[in-house]
Parts: sequence; C-alpha cells; structure tokens
Amino acid sequence: MLFWRVKPLDKILETAGKKALTRQLGAFQLTMLGIGAVIGTGIFVLTAEAGQKAGPAMMIAFVIAAVVCALAALAYAELASMVPVSGSAYTYTYGVLGEALAWVVGWALVLEYAVAAGAVSVGWSGYMNGLLMHTDLFGLVEKGSLALPLALRTGPYDGGMFNLLACAIALVVTWLLVIGTSKSAKVNAVLVSIKVAALIAFIVISLPAVQSENFEPFFPTGWGSPMGGIGVLGAAASIFFAYVGFDAVSTASEETKNPNRNIPIGLIGSLLICTIFYLLVGYGAVGAAGSTPMVGADGVVLQPGTPEMAAACLNHAEALVCSKEPLAHVMRMIGFGGIGNLIGLAAALALPSVVLMMIYGQTRIFFTMSRDGLLPEVLSRVHPKYHTPHVITVITGVFVALFGAMFPVGILADISNSGTLFAFIMVAIGVMILRKQQPNRHRPFRTPLVWVVCPLAVAGCLLLFFNLSLYTIGLFFGWAIIGLVVYRFYGYKHSDLGRGLTGPEGGEVPPPEPVFHEGPEA
Ligand code: ALA
Repeated sequence: MLFWRVKPLDKILETAGKKALTRQLGAFQLTMLGIGAVIGTGIFVLTAEAGQKAGPAMMIAFVIAAVVCALAALAYAELASMVPVSGSAYTYTYGVLGEALAWVVGWALVLEYAVAAGAVSVGWSGYMNGLLMHTDLFGLVEKGSLALPLALRTGPYDGGMFNLLACAIALVVTWLLVIGTSKSAKVNAVLVSIKVAALIAFIVISLPAVQSENFEPFFPTGWGSPMGGIGVLGAAASIFFAYVGFDAVSTASEETKNPNRNIPIGLIGSLLICTIFYLLVGYGAVGAAGSTPMVGADGVVLQPGTPEMAAACLNHAEALVCSKEPLAHVMRMIGFGGIGNLIGLAAALALPSVVLMMIYGQTRIFFTMSRDGLLPEVLSRVHPKYHTPHVITVITGVFVALFGAMFPVGILADISNSGTLFAFIMVAIGVMILRKQQPNRHRPFRTPLVWVVCPLAVAGCLLLFFNLSLYTIGLFFGWAIIGLVVYRFYGYKHSDLGRGLTGPEGGEVPPPEPVFHEGPEA
C-alpha cells in the first residue's frame, strides 16, 4: 500500500520538461551559495531562544543541529541530482514512495516554507522595531519617538496584539513575487556580504567583553527530555532552523562541475563555516551578556514564545533570552549602541530576501502539486502579464502575513522544523529504497557511505523531531491528519496519475513553469 501510485522517475523528468543547465559551479561558489542561503533569522534571532532553552550549552546545540543537517544534506543531494526538477522532497517522494506519502511530504513542506517565511518575517520585525526604538535619525527626531506601540510590535502570545511589521514585510515580499521580482546573483552577493560583515563585527566586538562567569552553570537545563522542547536537545531542535536553506546546494547539483566532488565540499564546507560563525556568535553573546534561562514561579524553565515567558520578560528586558534582536541588544549592553544599530540595519536589509526565498519555495511546491492534479488547477494559473503563479503566491503570502502577525518567532521556527525534519526523513529513506530498487540508474551525485549516512540522517532527524515541544509535535500530526483528509477527498480523486493522465502520454499538457527570471538562488 505504501508504494502505491508511484510516479515513475522518468515520467517526472519528462513532465517537468526541464532544460539542461550549464555545469559552471565549483566548490567555492557552492560554499558561498550555501552560506548565503543559510544565515538568517536563526542566528540573528533564535540565539535568544536557544539561550532560554539551554543556557551556555546552546553552543553544543549548534553542533548537534549542524551534524544532523550535514547527514540529511548528503542524502538530499543524491535525490536532488537524480531528479533535478521543481518540487524538491515532494517530487522525490512521489517517484519513490508513492502519491499518498508524497502528498504528506508536500503538505509538510508547507510548514517548512510558508511557516518559515512567517518566522523570518517576525525575526525581521524584531530588528526593525529595535531600530525604530533606538534611532534618532541622525538627530532629526527624538530617540524612541518612532517606536510602534507595544500592541503592534508582537503577536498575542508574545505580550502584544498584532505584529504589524511582520505582516507588512510578508505582504510587500508577496507583491514583489507577484510582479516577478527575484533576487539577482549580484544582489545576493551583496546581501551575503552584509550578513557576514554583521556577524564578524559582532564577534570582534563581543569577544573581548566575554566574562567566564557567564558560562556558569554551563548546562542549566540539562539535555532535556523527549517532547519537552527544553535542554540542549530541545535547543538543537529549534536552532536547526538556523541551518535550513542548505538544500540550495543540493538542488544546484545539475549546474555543478564534477558534482561528486564539489557537492559534498559545498555542503559540508558551508555548514562548517556557518557552524564556526554560529559558535563564535553564541560564545560572544553568552559570554558578554549571560544567558540565564527564565523560570516560572514553580522554578520550571519557561518555554520561549509563551505568554508566561512574555510576562517574565516584562521585568527583565535587559536579559539576552528576552531580546527580540539579541545581537543588537548585546552590542548595546556592552556600550556599542551605534554598532548595535548597524547590525540591526544589516538584519533589516538581509532578512527580507530569506522571506522571499521561502515564499518562492512554497509557491513552487504548490505549483508542482497542482500540476500533478493534487491541488486545484486554478492554483497553478500563471499571470498573463507577469508570468508568475499569482494566485498561489497571493494565497501563500496572505497566510504568511497572518502567521507573522499572530505568532512568536520561536513557535513558527519549531513548527517549520517539524515539517523540514519529516521531509528529510522521507528523503533519506527514499535514497535507500532507490539504491535497492534501481541500483543502475544514473546518479550524478552518490551519497558517500550511504548505508551509514542515510540511517544516521533518519536517526538524527528523529532525535531532533522528538525533542521539539509536545505542542509542536501535536500541531505537526494535526496538520498531517488534515492533509490526509484533504487528500482522501480531493487529491485522491483528481490526481493526474490516478486518472491516467500523466504528462504527454496521458494527453494532458502541463501548464508552463512559473517564470522567475534568474530565480532566487539563495
Ligand atoms: N536558515 C534560515 C534562517 O535562519 C532559514 O533564517
């Protein structure tokens, strides 16, 4: 039953009708691509959440999350190189495990992309609100006069009512995507430089301010317990978000020279460099500002992103774990307010491109699912003037804006991680099944030590998944059940594969791929 309605890989490649791309990327460009795609809200914002969950031991959490990502990325790259078409894990699953599981993966990828876009929008709003609060616009206005009222700075779980800026940035990015804007390679290079420069400035300034007593106790919350969402493993499950995006390297395999050598170098290289940056940033932030977790009246460590945490933070606005803009906050705490504002500006400039990438990714998945008949055809309609899938872009954007307006960044990041981890588990299983089922199929990239790497990737993703909070895991399964109901009553009946209409032979002409000009490569 599991492998029922499998869409043959050759058929997938044929239906997508994808043009061959020139192999031009080397190991260095791939590494840069990975770094550009990965650095974002995770390190700029979730450092505070990781501090709340694990205290100074969050640095171990960074390493655990990086190792799991590296394993998953190596598995992902094999399927990405074999099936280099849009739809990512959804498409791979369709070709290996069949339609029902592909549907669940596609449904889970909504969490990965759309909810992540909401998380990054909230992260952006944290830095923008900080800037508005701390700027005097070079003496033009009184400091603080531009700040929004508290009710409009965060959503209802976080002490406010409606996160206006998170909602606004999601809608602006949606509009840009509808009119066909995408990031050019040059803009991407500039944004990567801005992000990296901000992190380097933070490291250089915070390290001399590090005080050894801020690392005591190192493990204030221990390793954590399954589904507890706290402790080192809970922090690793959350900070996993900081590494999401490395699949940009896996999916570039088709454009890579000598992929067997360069893809692992690009993947592991970018993850390694990001991990070193994250460790140094974490060390500087904890060492300079301390990261004592907030506890409730009963002495229990509070979950970030809850009303209880927001209430505890009202009296501890100076605490790192309470900050919505932790890197700028640390700079201000140690007397470098101007640099703090510049770091805030860097985040404000660079994070919208991550929102763009995530909403774009979501529209691609929905587009592919709609093209396969699993979602209504109207969703894959392309705008006559802009040549973009405007219907699905607007629907996605409105939901992202609402997520951003209502929910805290940590909750959204955790929910997004649940979907991503599930998709990675499916991909690693798919790689192993395909090695058995079709051992002779051409694999431009082969996962090294596949029988070690893939099982470890599955185990690592499961470990992180079950260290998310019970709330997040419950939401994930609730979402999956809703998805299966939708599949049973819509996708199952309308699927092209189910109706025998699979691509050219079935007589159905697939709608054109959305035109995104250069495509957001980061
Ligand atoms: N890794 C990306 C970020 O942290 C998703 O924003």
